[in-house]
Amino acid sequence: MIEEVFKNILERRNTKPDKFTGNTIDDSLVEKMLEAAHWAPTHGNTEPWQFKVFTGAGKDVLFKFLKEWHLENGDNEIKIEKTRKRIYATSHIISIAMKRGDNPKIPEIEELLAVGAAVQNMWLVAQAQGLGAYWSTGARAFHPKMKAFLGLGEQDKSLGFLYVGEKAVKDLPGHRLTKVNDHVDWIKD
Ligand SMILES: Cc1cc2nc3c(=O)[nH]c(=O)nc-3n(C[C@H](O)[C@H](O)[C@H](O)COP(=O)(O)O)c2cc1C
Repeated sequence: MIEEVFKNILERRNTKPDKFTGNTIDDSLVEKMLEAAHWAPTHGNTEPWQFKVFTGAGKDVLFKFLKEWHLENGDNEIKIEKTRKRIYATSHIISIAMKRGDNPKIPEIEELLAVGAAVQNMWLVAQAQGLGAYWSTGARAFHPKMKAFLGLGEQDKSLGFLYVGEKAVKDLPGHRLTKVNDHVDWIKD
């Protein structure tokens, strides 16, 4: 069991849509990921995660919004095409958001940490089901315009998108720049 869990953790990779087959995966696989997200730890049971799943014609809605935004910015055709390719190579695109609760004892940072844990749960379940997933953030993801598109409130945060698809490649090699002990101090006596 531990070997299986650890293997899944080690083999999970940030797998970009250009490494996807373009096939549509079954919704049930994504539902499993979302269920795992919902079991993330949450201080005060605020359960601050909020997701929208764009798939099928839902991807047209997302692309239309992003294309219009590109055009407003005066972005060239190459940028628009890059966005289009990324969306349509992906089976399901999950927007990740933190919906701020009203429990005054829970600071915002704890809500954000809980959503991070939820995303990791989703990502590990994607990996366990043989799927690829890519977390994309960046300036547009955090922009108020994105928040409005996702129907989020003033206190909520848009935290990017998880692109999920069938992998066209085997598990990608992973690497870490440092050793675990560079990040750990054991205080024993
Ligand atoms: C909060 C967060 C935001 C991320 N945003 C991006 C991003 O915008 N673009 C990207 O290519 N990868 C993004 N990543 C993925 C990281 O680049 C990736 O996790 C890192 O390179 C380590 O690779 P691994 O996940 O395959 O181990 C993000 C990861 C996290 C945790």
